Amino acid sequence: MEKKTAVGIVGGLGHIGLIQAACLAKLGYKSIAYDINSAKIKDIQRGKMPFYEPGLEELVHETMDNGLLVFTTRVTDLQEAEMIFICTGTPALPSGEADTSQVYSAIEEVARHRSNQALVIIKSTVPAGTCRKIAAFLQERDLAARAAVVSCPEFLREGSGVQDFWKPSRIVVGAPSRETAEKVAGLYSPPGIPILLTTWENAELIKHASNAFLASKISFINEIALLCEQVGADIRVVSRGIGLDPRINPHFLEAGIGFSGPCLEKDLKSLLRQFQEAKKEAKLLEAALRVNEEKRREIVHKLQAKLGGLRGRRIAVLGMAFKPQTDDVRDSHSLPIIKQLLSAGASVTVHDPWIKSPRGGRLAENDLPGVEWASSPHAAAQGKDALLILTAWPEYRELDLKQIKDCLAVPLIVDGRNIYESGQLRELGIDYQGVGI
Ligand code: UDX
Repeated sequence: MEKKTAVGIVGGLGHIGLIQAACLAKLGYKSIAYDINSAKIKDIQRGKMPFYEPGLEELVHETMDNGLLVFTTRVTDLQEAEMIFICTGTPALPSGEADTSQVYSAIEEVARHRSNQALVIIKSTVPAGTCRKIAAFLQERDLAARAAVVSCPEFLREGSGVQDFWKPSRIVVGAPSRETAEKVAGLYSPPGIPILLTTWENAELIKHASNAFLASKISFINEIALLCEQVGADIRVVSRGIGLDPRINPHFLEAGIGFSGPCLEKDLKSLLRQFQEAKKEAKLLEAALRVNEEKRREIVHKLQAKLGGLRGRRIAVLGMAFKPQTDDVRDSHSLPIIKQLLSAGASVTVHDPWIKSPRGGRLAENDLPGVEWASSPHAAAQGKDALLILTAWPEYRELDLKQIKDCLAVPLIVDGRNIYESGQLRELGIDYQGVGI
């Protein structure tokens, strides 16, 4: 394959960074993935991936084997790259504000180790105004000649990240000049994909507003689900009927226990902080967050009401990951829900197809004290007073529910993801409670 120019990726072992690095290498760029975690770099060089993402492992192996994807812990190795992607995390501070310190220090480190100017392209989700502040920060330190800042927000979803890279919904680039923005967009712009070249602030806000809109859509359908339960309607049918309007579309209208994971909630909270700092109210977005938090309490209340209390009850929980096709439990709804069950005096046995222990889920051993980990859904259900579904894994849809009923001490299924047909479960003699059905 023809070797194109070199690109650098800072935070090259993270979700966004590794997908970016492997896909750019597949396109023929020499991808230099820089990360401070030398143990994980050794692991990946020995064939052990830092996380699961469909299609990524094959791509990493292929591009490492042909020499286009390289990993390094030396920032000086980025010197040969003219464009450097910043893919470090921006975790939420207790106030909800995004902690951008890793982005700042990554850019400063890159700039300090360069002899010529690089384009530093921020993929990390940062509050509107960050690129401008970083440009000033570089100026103050006499580093502006070595790093020019560009915003290029990432919209990929976990579980379909590689596919989203090849076929993005759009490419958004925010830069002070059109020429710079075009350079970045020119790295990979598949035909037919809309490209929006704009300012730093627009690009930064597009990312936050997109995630806030998706979160609001989920909270909207979850609010309607509340009324469905009261009037005898089925949210799945109502949602389908709403989504058939092309102005609304059918996506992100699945009712359940709400959104979780490392992005939607964090980015919504960060956007709320940006409103606060601007001394403006965000009533709609605040409500979207409140509805979501309430949804987690609601599912526990449902279980409590069905069982007449949770003290001493044995609950089987199916699903730790925040959604199917990922082994990511960061900010998964399962964590606060299980904690609520434990603090109400229940005992909990967990099953997840990909996360078999706290270690597997990158949890601290004492994150979920006393929780048992089962090797199969049937083992989890054995002798329990209820089965609680928290992640819509395809294998849970395929379960032999007659067998599950035989395992349970009390034939009760509370389904936070609406994966079963109520009629079928009723026929089997299972007490079934979904969300909005
Ligand atoms: C999200 C955005 O979709 C992506 O564009 C951005 O780059 C990162 O954040 P991700 O966090 O991977 O992606 O997951 P997503 O597929 O958006 O799901 C988030 C949560 O919402 C999950 O817990 C999912 O189960 C839940 N969800 C999603 C619903 O409850 N209902 C829906 O209809 C859709």
